[in-house]
Formats: sequence, structure tokens, C-alpha cells
Amino acid sequence: MKFFLDTANVDEIRQAVAWGVLDGVTTNPTLASKEGRSFREMIEDIASIVDGPVSAETVSLDVEGMMAEARAVTSWAPNVVAKIPMTGHGLTAVRRLADEGVPTNVTLVFSATQGLMAAKAGATFVSPFVGRLDDISVDGMQVVRDLAEIFTIYGYEAEIIASSMRHPLHIIEAAKAGANIATLPFKVLEQMVRHPLTDAGIERFLSDWTKVPGYATAFQVGGPKR
Ligand code: E4P
Repeated sequence: MKFFLDTANVDEIRQAVAWGVLDGVTTNPTLASKEGRSFREMIEDIASIVDGPVSAETVSLDVEGMMAEARAVTSWAPNVVAKIPMTGHGLTAVRRLADEGVPTNVTLVFSATQGLMAAKAGATFVSPFVGRLDDISVDGMQVVRDLAEIFTIYGYEAEIIASSMRHPLHIIEAAKAGANIATLPFKVLEQMVRHPLTDAGIERFLSDWTKVPGYATAFQVGGPKR
């Protein structure tokens, strides 16, 4: 399973890269608005840090506008993907962009029918928003399960990005549901690393270590053997 970070913050992205677990990044206008820098500079910066797809969202609602923005963002770096909203015009743009070889991520997907339409139109990635469905008492993960089953049956190549992830259990559920990718806020990635029993275990081992004779120089080259 691949992990993307759902952020526009380069410090968070650098940390995830350093952990060796980052496969890509998704951004959106809300995330971009928190960074106080120009969109192009931000996307180019992120694309240079992460060795994987970086989604940059288009904001036009008409086909020509979406296509112009998609062509622009994907010209900024070779790993940028155009994020297109799940609308009728969005589908038209996705089909035309696919024919031009421009990769797309169809965003704001809230049903299996929408996801199926996006895959059929030639989307590279399809992003069901799990958390936002959970927020309105609908089982968001069911959309991921349905899409994974449908894409397998019909051989669609679109990859499913389980999106709007709110907590670590969402990631486990998305993995079991067959999502190719989960895109996580940095906080969730951190939560997946830590466990209170790991912290307590380290504390105890370090305390007991000081009772081992010669512990302070044990790892020195040529240090005491007994
Ligand atoms: C996905 O690409 C979106 O940016 C994201 O997952 C939205 O999540 P939210 O519901 O937490 O805003």
C-alpha cells in the first residue's frame, strides 16, 4: 500500500521522506491557503522533495479552464498530477487530458458511481472522501470497497486514493478495503508511528541499560570486552 501526505507543508513532507515511507503528496486549495506562498512555487518545491506523484488542484469549473490549468500545473514538474473535481465538465476534461497523456486525480468523489465514471473517463487516480462521508453518518469506506471490487472485475487501471482520512484506523480499513493509496494528514502519519507501550518500553530498557557493567563505553570501537 502506498502512503501519500495530504498537505502543502514542506517540513511535514521532508519528515515523511526522512522516515522512508512517502510515495506522493496531495494538496487542495484549503491546504495551500495555510502556507502563505505562491501556488506554483509551493508545488514546484514539493515536487522536488517527493519522489512520486504530487496532486495540484484546478479551480476552473468549465472544461477549457480545467484543461488549461491542468496543462499548466503538469508543466511545472514531471511528477505533478492535475486534480480535477468530480463534475460532468470534470469528466470531459479528464477524458481529453487522458488522451493527451496528462495524468489526473479525480477529487471530491462521494459515491461508487462517481468513482466508476471517473475511472471510465480515464482518470489516473480516483479519490473517494471517506471522512467527509463518515461525518454525515454514511459509511465512507464502503465506497472504497465497492470501487476496489469494481476496478478489479473490469480491469480499470485507475488507482484508488482513500482520502479524507481522519485517524489511523481509517488507514487499516482502507488497506483491507483494497485502496491502492491512502492520503494522510501528517498528524495521522505520526499517530501511526507512535505507541505508548513503545515509549514505555524504551524508557524501561534505557533505565535497565545503566545497570549493565561498562554500559557507557560498550559501543566504543576497541572498548572493554568485559
Ligand atoms: C484529498 O485529496 C483531499 O485533499 C483530502 O483528503 C480532503 O480531506 P479533508 O476532508 O480532511 O479536508
